[in-house]
Amino acid sequence: MDSILVTGNGPLNGQIPIAGAKNACLTLMPATLLSEEPLTLTNAPRLSDIKTMTALLQSLGAEVSSLQDGQVLAMSSHDLTSQTADYEIVRKMRASNLVLGPLLARFGKAVVSLPGGCAIGARPMDLHIEGLEALGAEIELKDGYLHAKAPGGLKGAVHEMRFASVGATENIVMAATLAKGTTVLKNAAREPEIVDLVECLRKMGAQISGEGTSTIEIQGVDRLHGATHQVVTDRIELGTYMLAPAMCGGEVELLGGRMSLVESFAAKLDAAGVHVEETLNGLKVARKNGRVNAVDVVTEPFPGFPTDLQAQMMALMCTAEGTSVLEERIFENRFMHAPELVRMGANIEVHGGTATVTGVERLKGAPVMATDLRASVSLILAGMAAEGETTVSRVYHLDRGYEHVVRKLEGVGAKIERIKDQ
Ligand code: UD1
Repeated sequence: MDSILVTGNGPLNGQIPIAGAKNACLTLMPATLLSEEPLTLTNAPRLSDIKTMTALLQSLGAEVSSLQDGQVLAMSSHDLTSQTADYEIVRKMRASNLVLGPLLARFGKAVVSLPGGCAIGARPMDLHIEGLEALGAEIELKDGYLHAKAPGGLKGAVHEMRFASVGATENIVMAATLAKGTTVLKNAAREPEIVDLVECLRKMGAQISGEGTSTIEIQGVDRLHGATHQVVTDRIELGTYMLAPAMCGGEVELLGGRMSLVESFAAKLDAAGVHVEETLNGLKVARKNGRVNAVDVVTEPFPGFPTDLQAQMMALMCTAEGTSVLEERIFENRFMHAPELVRMGANIEVHGGTATVTGVERLKGAPVMATDLRASVSLILAGMAAEGETTVSRVYHLDRGYEHVVRKLEGVGAKIERIKDQ
């Protein structure tokens, strides 16, 4: 297995291009299942999770061509051959469950293995199931697979989710586009990736309003048609690289970044003493001299502080002046990076869903292990700001969500290289 060697060094300067959002692309791709006509996505990120979704769609009989070095995905679900999402693919990635709503809506049946993915909590599917059942689906769990059917087709309904789940919102919205009548989804998730999905569905002929608010209304239509859609900027990759100059000093411009995607995160950086400003081409982040201030963080659904930036923010807080408290409210087991950061000299105490971090002057390089996608990049950031060398192993997690990470960070002056397994 490959590893990444990082040598801590001084300030970073330059530009980093931000890719299309992994999490948007992973819900836009299954949207192709809703129509016989082609769906083309531009600005797709080059990631192993996208390859996994490609394999899943192909296993259902969809055609998926990766063009322009992977940045364009041309898909067609004209001749689907299967409505079963197999365990062997689904176990690699939880987002595979996003084929459930579209398959059910178009074919009146779907069989989807319960998902795997990052080991950051229980991550059940009850909210997806409740929403689809409200639309008239009958769903049972047999041998690790959800067997869903809607013999007479799905019917619009008013449904309130118990928690604003991102994936459940996406599955329910996609399913409702082809249901008979009107669906009103209350307590819907408001993430930018959901807004992006709705914009794409609308181009395909869906009638939807209220995306980006907690009530989404969907007027079912008989069929959807083809479309071309540009994937929204990845706000998590953006936030991750905003932390690079925050940790190492210097000034870096994140090309394609927008403040509206990272408002709550940028507010925390500002409170920590990091300068963030919008430019013509993106966002510029600068940290001059001295340590950042400790700030407290609570993860929440959008527009709150994203759980997907909690590990990276913890890396920053490890060298802040003072003590910060990071509370994780979305996933119950998302502090696996903490013991690895402690190996690098950080002072962190974890009690349940709360981590208390007392900043130290400087971290020290060490061999560490990536445990999940966001944890892995937090260790790279920590290594870039540490004294000496850090080797991050198990970087396959990183390949799921960060394209060309070595090239992008090298481009702003980081000392980082990928060590290929012999
Ligand atoms: C998506 C993102 C992930 C991000 C998360 C929260 C994708 C591909 N992934 O994941 O990167 O960390 O949103 O912003 O978009 N839950 C239930 N029952 C359900 C569904 C979820 O209890 O049926 C719980 C989960 O266990 C978790 C919380 O709800 O504790 C949030 O999950 P959810 O919003 O669904 O996240 P995902 O869509 O899986």
